[in-house]
Amino acid sequence: MTSSGAIDLLFGGMEKLGPGSDAETLRVLQHLPDNRFDLVVDAGCGAGRQTIVLARELRTPIHAIDSHQPFLDELDRLAQQAGVRSLIHAHRMDIGAIPERFSEIDLLWSEGAAYNIGFANALKNWASALRIGGIAVVSELAWLQDNPSRAASEFFRSCYPDMRAAPENVTTARELGYTVLDTHTLPQEAWIDRYYDVLEPRARALQDHEDDAVRHLAQQVSREIEVFRTSQGSYGYVFYVLQRNLSFESSVSSCG
Ligand SMILES: C[S@@+](CC[C@H](N)C(=O)[O-])C[C@H]1O[C@@H](n2cnc3c(N)ncnc32)[C@H](O)[C@@H]1O
Repeated sequence: MTSSGAIDLLFGGMEKLGPGSDAETLRVLQHLPDNRFDLVVDAGCGAGRQTIVLARELRTPIHAIDSHQPFLDELDRLAQQAGVRSLIHAHRMDIGAIPERFSEIDLLWSEGAAYNIGFANALKNWASALRIGGIAVVSELAWLQDNPSRAASEFFRSCYPDMRAAPENVTTARELGYTVLDTHTLPQEAWIDRYYDVLEPRARALQDHEDDAVRHLAQQVSREIEVFRTSQGSYGYVFYVLQRNLSFESSVSSCG
C-alpha cells in the first residue's frame, strides 16, 4: 500500500487531523487586531475543522488548500453539514505554491501543516503572498521546556529533527519580516479530545497489519501518543500570530 493509502486507513473520516479545537481556533481568531478580511487562505486545511470555524465566524469566502483529495472531499461533506459550503473554495495544491496562485492575502491561516514544508520556509514563502500589514496565523510544534523528557527528545529527534523551542520560532518570524503580535499554546485537552482519543484505538487495531506502510504508521502514531502521555508538557503546539511588515523585502533579502 502507498503511504497515502496508509494515511487514509488510519485518518480517514476523522474531522480533526491534528491537535486543535474549535474553541482554540475561535479564541485566536477573536483576538486578531482586525475582523474583516477579504482574501482568506487556509493552508493545509485537511478535513477543514478550522476552515469551517473561519467561515462561520468571518462570513467571508475561505480558500482551503490541501494536497490530499480525500481530506478535501471530507471538508466538502462537513461544510455542507455546517451550512457554509458556499463560502469554502477548495484547492488541491501544494501549500508551497500559494504565492503562485494568490497575492495580497489578508489572512493566511495554517494549523498543524506548515512543518510539511518547514516552518521557516513556509513563513518566507507565504510572506510574499500576503499584503503589507496582512496577518498570518501559523501553528507549529515547539519545545516548551529547556530539558524535555528523554522519551520526547528521542522521538522527535528521529521524527521531527527541525523542531525548535517556541522563542526560536518567534525570532525566525521576526527575521523573516513579521511582527509577532501574539503567541498561544494549545491546552493538552486539544490534543486528546476528538484527536488522540479517536486515533489511539485505530492505531492499536492496525499495529500488526499485514501491510508494511500501515503497520509502520500505526506503530509510529501509537508511540507518539505514548510519548505525549509521559512528556509532562515538554512540548506543545504554539500559534504564532504574525503581521507582515512594511519592510518585508529587505528583511527577507538580508536573511538570504
Ligand atoms: C496534521 S494535518 C492538519 C490538518 C488540519 N489543519 C487540522 O488541523 O485538522 C496536515 C495537513 O497538511 C496537508 N499537507 C501536507 N503537506 C502538504 C503540502 N505540501 N501541500 C498541501 N497540503 C499538505 C495534509 O494532507 C494534511 O491535511
